[in-house]
Amino acid sequence: MTKYVINGGKPLYGEIDISGAKNAAVAIIPAALMVDGPCRIENLPQISDVTMLLNILKEMGADIRTINKNTMEIDCSGIKTAEATFDMMRKIRASYYLIGAMLGRFGKAKVAMPGGCNFGGVRPIDQHIKGFEAMGAEVELTNGLVNCETNGGLKGASIFLDVVSVGATVNIMLAAALAEGMTVIENAAREPHIVDLANFLNSMGADIRGAGTNVIKVRGVKSLRGGTYAVIPDQIEAGTYMAAVAATGGDVLIKNVIPKHMDCISGKLREMGVTIVENGETLRVIRKSALKRTNVKTLPYPGFPTDMQPQVAVVLCLAKGTSIVTEGVWDNRYKYVDEIAKMGAKIKVEGRVAVIEGVDMLTGAPVTAPDLRAGAAMVIAGLCAEGTTEIEGVHYIERGYEAIIEKLRGVGADIKSVYVPDEQENESRDVG
Ligand code: EPZ
Repeated sequence: MTKYVINGGKPLYGEIDISGAKNAAVAIIPAALMVDGPCRIENLPQISDVTMLLNILKEMGADIRTINKNTMEIDCSGIKTAEATFDMMRKIRASYYLIGAMLGRFGKAKVAMPGGCNFGGVRPIDQHIKGFEAMGAEVELTNGLVNCETNGGLKGASIFLDVVSVGATVNIMLAAALAEGMTVIENAAREPHIVDLANFLNSMGADIRGAGTNVIKVRGVKSLRGGTYAVIPDQIEAGTYMAAVAATGGDVLIKNVIPKHMDCISGKLREMGVTIVENGETLRVIRKSALKRTNVKTLPYPGFPTDMQPQVAVVLCLAKGTSIVTEGVWDNRYKYVDEIAKMGAKIKVEGRVAVIEGVDMLTGAPVTAPDLRAGAAMVIAGLCAEGTTEIEGVHYIERGYEAIIEKLRGVGADIKSVYVPDEQENESRDVG
């Protein structure tokens, strides 16, 4: 087991380079399955979700070459199967994008039900299925498998999503790219990674218009050709480091961002008294004075992202007064609250609302990350807390943050990753 050990209470100074966006990369990698010939993908973050998806494609017969640590060449021409039922599929949410990609390429798909961060309940895929069915697929869910069949391929259709879903928008867009005729997705998600996927597919020869608005029109094409594409910078990784500076105080230049994507986060941090200076592809984040209270409601893009809710909640723990956070996307995304309470945070949760009473300081404690962004929030709490914080469950954090230890050490944080043999290993060593 690996844990992070943080000696907190130090302001952060320096520069942090932002990596490619996880949620764009995990949509683009499955999309490569539909491309004839090699596609070179640049600015891929080195995170375990990416590695897992590449391994899934490899198992299926893809030829994957490492060009450098953030560039891969993926050639899926050799994949002959529309089946991916391996155990590793269950570990990663985005593996369900293979359904859309396989349906597009083969007209059928058999995939293990996806895993990923659990926000306290089942993460439904009814809107994905509704889309596939509208396009002519027969979908069956049995024994943890999703099995889709069509009669000779998909046909374009009009689909109105009942909820704004990133996953359903991506999956339907993938399936529609190679379907016959026009697909219209209404009430579509507008996140930057949706636009990035559309740009990737268009650069390979697809015909997708309207990505970034709530109506996306996909005119199916016969085939997609190989090419080179660079993934956009990660909005949530950038936001996480901005929140870290807000919490600890200091002055950090966040490099390689698209400032427009950061508006919803920058605006909230400014309300809290943080100075943010935009210059080209950088944001300078300065926090010298006390933090002010505010309210936050998470919403689909361009609203405040749910994937930043735990991180900003930790910042609000240190603001003077009472702040209210309302989670507008997930039913239960407050599993981190009990852990942060061990560090002295005062948060009361009632359904989707958290009431945060600001405290003067947090104190270090042993805590466990229950999911990716909650883990990032614990890192932030540890960085600003007095004393030592030990975080377990860091494999969640490593699903989504490239080189988090190195990046934070680069701006003066006292954080290290420590390998601790677990009891079973100890026992087997003792026996030996
Ligand atoms: C994506 O998950 C992200 N994951 C999540 O980020 C993010 O929290 C979420 O979008 C919302 O922004 C990836 O991109 C891989 P949704 P996704 O479908 O696609 C309901 C992170 O930390 N819904 O937009 O699974 C659902 O229950 C991760 O990086 C249905 O009811 O989310 C939720 O309330 C975690 N039926 C809401 O819609 C469906 O068929 C939004 O979910 C699908 C979703």
